Amino acid sequence: MSGGLLCYCRSGFEPELAAELGERAAAAGHHGYADTARGSGFVRFPVPGGDAGALSRALPWRRLVFARQKLVLLDELAGIDTGDRVGAVLAALEPRAAASTGRGTGFGSLVVEHPDSDAARPLAGLARALGNALRPALRKAGLLAAGDDPRLPRLHACLLAGDHLLLATADPADASPYPMGAPRLRLHREAPSRSALKLEEAFLTLLGDRERERLLRPGLTAADLGAAPGGWTWVLQRAGLQVTAVDNGPLRPHVLQAGGVEHLREDGFRWQPPRTLDWMVCDMVEQPRRVASRMATWFREGWCRQAVFNLKLPMKKRWLETRLCLDLFQEEAGRPLELRARQLYHDREEITVVALPNGR
Ligand SMILES: C[S@@+](CC[C@H](N)C(=O)[O-])C[C@H]1O[C@@H](n2cnc3c(N)ncnc32)[C@H](O)[C@@H]1O
Repeated sequence: MSGGLLCYCRSGFEPELAAELGERAAAAGHHGYADTARGSGFVRFPVPGGDAGALSRALPWRRLVFARQKLVLLDELAGIDTGDRVGAVLAALEPRAAASTGRGTGFGSLVVEHPDSDAARPLAGLARALGNALRPALRKAGLLAAGDDPRLPRLHACLLAGDHLLLATADPADASPYPMGAPRLRLHREAPSRSALKLEEAFLTLLGDRERERLLRPGLTAADLGAAPGGWTWVLQRAGLQVTAVDNGPLRPHVLQAGGVEHLREDGFRWQPPRTLDWMVCDMVEQPRRVASRMATWFREGWCRQAVFNLKLPMKKRWLETRLCLDLFQEEAGRPLELRARQLYHDREEITVVALPNGR
């Protein structure tokens, strides 16, 4: 099979990604059905005889909630000779690259990866070895730039089994820069909780470099609702923000001792700041609609300029709940906001939303 989209997601969330792709594609005038298996970590959205590039452009990666990565499928190689995988990939690509450019060059870089699933994880070593063998062979064949070139499409080889792989391509400007779409951050030894990684990833992937510089700098103010034991507060504190941490539970002593943090044992659904804050972040474990509604109140009342919040998803109909919560938030906020929502690599049964004033 060739033609269509190939998206990666958290294992178990294929139905959500499939529903999201189907709905968004239909809204853009591309009708079709996603093809997936639960637990596989990926979803294919075929475009039989259609223009997969046009569908890809109609579904920008940054707007997708459940896709860690978005690629355009080139080819499926099944039952390949495991003694010559490089030869199989070259044979599949050579006519295509020659036809598309006339010169046989085409890709700016190569990623060999596998879906993030229990079945595919043992393929990590093979993916590394195949990448090392394939790179020079592709260069020799004139299919890959001599050094990484982000202006050219990126080639992805996604291993599904030792003799089975998908070839796909990414527009580097419209795709995750990380292999498997997964930024693997290291937990700092002073981080009070693993949750710190979620906020670090949100800032890294949902804000641009210049936004981070402008919006996360010493002297700015923030509230952290549901702060204990202090992971998110610690991330904000390290960026130099003054943080009001709201939680009935205790914060790690070193976070309080480092300064710049005030701990209030209050209800995060009732507490309101005495003056407008730059940021509100919220990781309270609660019904997502209740959280979305409270977050909207903060914007409607002008209590914060921007926010990061988590929506914990129910067990079923998670795409529907996601859409409902995002719509409810936007409607109740009563002002134009830019929403960036994604199930981050470090998110589990949840998604993370960044809300910024529109037209900054
Ligand atoms: C997932 S933990 C937060 C972890 C934190 N973000 C971190 O990085 O360490 C959820 C927290 O929300 C708090 N929480 C739940 N409901 C709350 C409420 N109504 N008001 C304040 N805190 C609440 C809980 O006490 C718990 O500490």
